[in-house]
Amino acid sequence: MPTAAPVPTPAAVFSHRPLTDADIPHICRFARNREELYFLFPRATWPLTPEQVRASLAVRRDPTVVLRGGEVVGYANFATFEEGCSASLGNVSAAPWVRRTGVAKHLVRIMMDRAFDHHGLPELVLRCFNTNTPGLLLYAAMGFVPIAIEERTAPWGDRLALLTLRIDRARWDAGRGEG
Ligand SMILES: CC(C)(COP(=O)(O)OP(=O)(O)OC[C@H]1O[C@@H](n2cnc3c(N)ncnc32)[C@H](O)[C@@H]1OP(=O)(O)O)[C@@H](O)C(=O)NCCC(=O)NCCS
Repeated sequence: MPTAAPVPTPAAVFSHRPLTDADIPHICRFARNREELYFLFPRATWPLTPEQVRASLAVRRDPTVVLRGGEVVGYANFATFEEGCSASLGNVSAAPWVRRTGVAKHLVRIMMDRAFDHHGLPELVLRCFNTNTPGLLLYAAMGFVPIAIEERTAPWGDRLALLTLRIDRARWDAGRGEG
């Protein structure tokens, strides 16, 4: 009797590598609107342009893309980096046409491995707005916990809460293989 083909896991479907200049026009299409661009890159001006991304690379570290088939479908980097102390995860984004398929989970896991395994950092932090439900639930699923709240005013005038979330090495170690 024929057996069903195994369903591929995300790890088998996705690959990753450092960002190249040719990827930049693709990642500029990941934010669907002004609000999403503000969530993922608060200092950027809508619409995101390759020039803004290139300029940001001067101060960001480990820019990384996720690919599905040969297509670039996810992007993240470290927005700040303090050797031996801490890094903050930034520009986390998934192409709109592949969302809800595990791209961001794969991407965040890669960046966590990079922070803890490769750089040996004791913690990884990130910032996420209170109205960004997909982002907050993503980071909660990956083991991040909120540690601070600050007020911000969005470009469209709304008062927002900007949460800082953190995961430390022990929690990351305990969660290996999950998520
Ligand atoms: C947030 C974002 C990166 C998620 O990308 P994604 O590839 O769709 O996420 P995944 O498929 O890996 O989902 C991982 C988890 O995130 C959460 N999540 C993602 N999208 C969600 C949604 N629309 N509603 C609720 N939860 C959601 C869920 O917990 C999900 O796990 P589940 O599928 O087991 O329920 C994507 O929506 C995006 O690029 N948004 C615009 C930019 C942005 O807000 N970036 C984050 C800045 S802090």
